[in-house]
Amino acid sequence: MFFPRRGQSNTERAPAADGPGWERRRAGRIAVRYLRELTSLFRPRAVAVVGASKDPAKIGNAILRNMQKCGFAGRLFPVNPREKEIGGLPCYPGPAQLPEVPEVAVISVPVPAVAGVAEECGRAGIRYLVVVTAGFKETGGEGLAREKELLAICRRHGMRLVGPNCVGIMDTHTPMNASFASSFPRPGKIAFISQSGAFVVAILDWSFQTGLGFSRFVSLGNKADLNEADFIEEAARDEETRVILCYIEDVADGPRFIEAARSASRQKPVIVLKSGTSASGARAASSHTGALAGSDLAYSAAFRHAGVIRAGSMAELFDLAGVFATQPLPAGRRVAVVTNSGGPGIVATDAVEQEGLEMARFDRATIDALREFLPAESNVYNPVDVLGDARSDRYRRAMAAVLGDGHVDAMLVMTCPAAVTEPEETAAALVECAARHPAKPVVAAFMGGPQMDRGAQFLRERGIPAFTFPEPGIRALKGLHAYHAGKAALENPQVLAFDNIDPAAVEEVLKAAAEEKRPVLLPSEAARVARAYGITTAPTRLAATCAEAVRLADEMGYPVVLKVASPKIMHKTDVGGVVTGVPNAAAVRQAWDTVMGNVLSHFPLSVIYGIEVQKMMPPGVELIVGITRDVHFGHMVAFGLGGIYVNLLQDVSFRLTQGLTPGEIQEMIRETRAFTLLRGYRGEAPADLEAVAGTIGRVAVLVQDFPTITEMDINPVFAYAKGVAALDIKITVGG
Ligand code: COA
Repeated sequence: MFFPRRGQSNTERAPAADGPGWERRRAGRIAVRYLRELTSLFRPRAVAVVGASKDPAKIGNAILRNMQKCGFAGRLFPVNPREKEIGGLPCYPGPAQLPEVPEVAVISVPVPAVAGVAEECGRAGIRYLVVVTAGFKETGGEGLAREKELLAICRRHGMRLVGPNCVGIMDTHTPMNASFASSFPRPGKIAFISQSGAFVVAILDWSFQTGLGFSRFVSLGNKADLNEADFIEEAARDEETRVILCYIEDVADGPRFIEAARSASRQKPVIVLKSGTSASGARAASSHTGALAGSDLAYSAAFRHAGVIRAGSMAELFDLAGVFATQPLPAGRRVAVVTNSGGPGIVATDAVEQEGLEMARFDRATIDALREFLPAESNVYNPVDVLGDARSDRYRRAMAAVLGDGHVDAMLVMTCPAAVTEPEETAAALVECAARHPAKPVVAAFMGGPQMDRGAQFLRERGIPAFTFPEPGIRALKGLHAYHAGKAALENPQVLAFDNIDPAAVEEVLKAAAEEKRPVLLPSEAARVARAYGITTAPTRLAATCAEAVRLADEMGYPVVLKVASPKIMHKTDVGGVVTGVPNAAAVRQAWDTVMGNVLSHFPLSVIYGIEVQKMMPPGVELIVGITRDVHFGHMVAFGLGGIYVNLLQDVSFRLTQGLTPGEIQEMIRETRAFTLLRGYRGEAPADLEAVAGTIGRVAVLVQDFPTITEMDINPVFAYAKGVAALDIKITVGG
């Protein structure tokens, strides 16, 4: 680890960036190694507060007080040219005058002074700046220029920057409170990284009533330099953090986010709430921190690929946090429910099924054991109903029998306030039972108000998540199971590999199109590209004249299909540009006239290259395989039901092509309703799923090899009992 001496800047030891090649490469290497390390940002030996003030109403005063109050054991240096002492500590006029070089400077000076202070910090050898000052990118124009200047100063000195426009950072294990929040969290295992400063302070305050403890709070602010990926990576390294929570409005760098989150998810759960999913939400997000919200679909695909658990709401984010921070991962999806009333038991059963979990089927011995002590009217099958007159002892025995069953992976215990219910004693019995089965997660739903609160609170304080209603508890158990199930795939990722691929042929086609400045490939070119990557296409040839069409059809054999070939016509069927089942030469001539007549009546001025003659393929399951490119995460591959109803049915699943695995392709096929058809619907023979998966994979590899392909549609692809045929292929090439 490199600690600069006093007066030595962070970059002084790096070779000149404008030196010879090898020196530049070395400079780059040193800079990268140095810049990625964030441990001493959270575990500093000394911290300066620049803009510290005696005035208790000022933020600079709050930050210094917070650092003192939290029990920070390192050296603390207030910096303010007007004061000799603040908060009982000697005060220094500027960073250059400090008695030692702190690793971190928290800056709370007015915006015009920030650049100057940052420059002084860089010269003094400070490594990290936490800039709380607002008035940067989020204000646009001049603010954006200020932010660029601040970042340039940081880069020049090899400093890393948190913010600007943030609340600050906290670490309960150091302990350090380099923020102006009004309180300091209870120590715990959850790291919360937030793009909204307001959420940091609100969640902090709220956490006291929920009993949640935190390892870290990070307010990202404008993310001029350090962003969510850096802090996820750092929290993954942090031994005190067991769960990583993020609230984000956008990601600064898509591929880097995926890399950091995927690597972190192999070690601990990463749970993300991404706002701006609705169109108006996205607009609010862009005006909030100047963030440009990407398409939600791409975010979902990226999170899935990275193993990130996506929360649907703030409440769910923290429900999941609580359960991951306290409970073990379940071995499987089988849930047992113990309740003192029938209705809630049914609601819980519905929730189990809706979330894709299973109601456990008990062992014979468990059922016999339950029968022994439960009243005759009780239900001894899952959900176990111990009845409204159950006291804690009946609960205790029922929970012990159920959780001890080898067919149970997790348990939900529910109780409603009847006259004899003992909420606290029942809670205590659950704590004991859970302690005897440390490998099985348990959650509780103590339904009611003040009567049940003490029991619920008792559980939370002892590390058992307690909800008011069953559904959030079941969703939390689903989160545990999903993470556990997905982790294996993250740990052993398979890679897509295909033989029979000819990139040179694709390069030739793309070059020809580029030379003629044609962004949309001709159908015959698109078919050539597909064939070069081993995608089976229906035989297709372009005819410039009617006579040529007849000759090609004769060669191919009848019946054939005629399709107009024009770069501007997207939906050929809609304009009468397609004639199918053409049985002979005379019919080809007639179809030629019909297609040309239809197209020219719709688009009199359109460019028509001719008419494609395609071998008429026998009918199969109509599928679509396509590609789109997202600004943040790159290419996504789509799969679903194809044909003319594709937009209407919207039965399509998406995945990122980057790092796509065979397992993910199987998942995306199974997610669609098309899968039901492919398996053989109503006595039809099952389709060749391997060939379907191969087509998806080959398309993904094609666009990874040729990223200039911005869009691709194969619609329809016919799937047969043996093999597939791509009928209509459209490829668009961009920058
Ligand atoms: N070096 C050291 N101290 C300096 C300084 C410098 N170059 N320039 C000014 N100071 C001192 C001031 O003298 C003052 O101390 P004093 O009270 O002893 O006079 C202190 O720094 C603060 O400066 P002041 O002008 O009083 O500003 P302020 O405290 O009213 O506001 C900010 C400063 C940073 C809090 C304010 O500009 C701001 O950005 N507020 C919004 C913060 C925010 O919401 N962040 C985002 C959260 S999501």
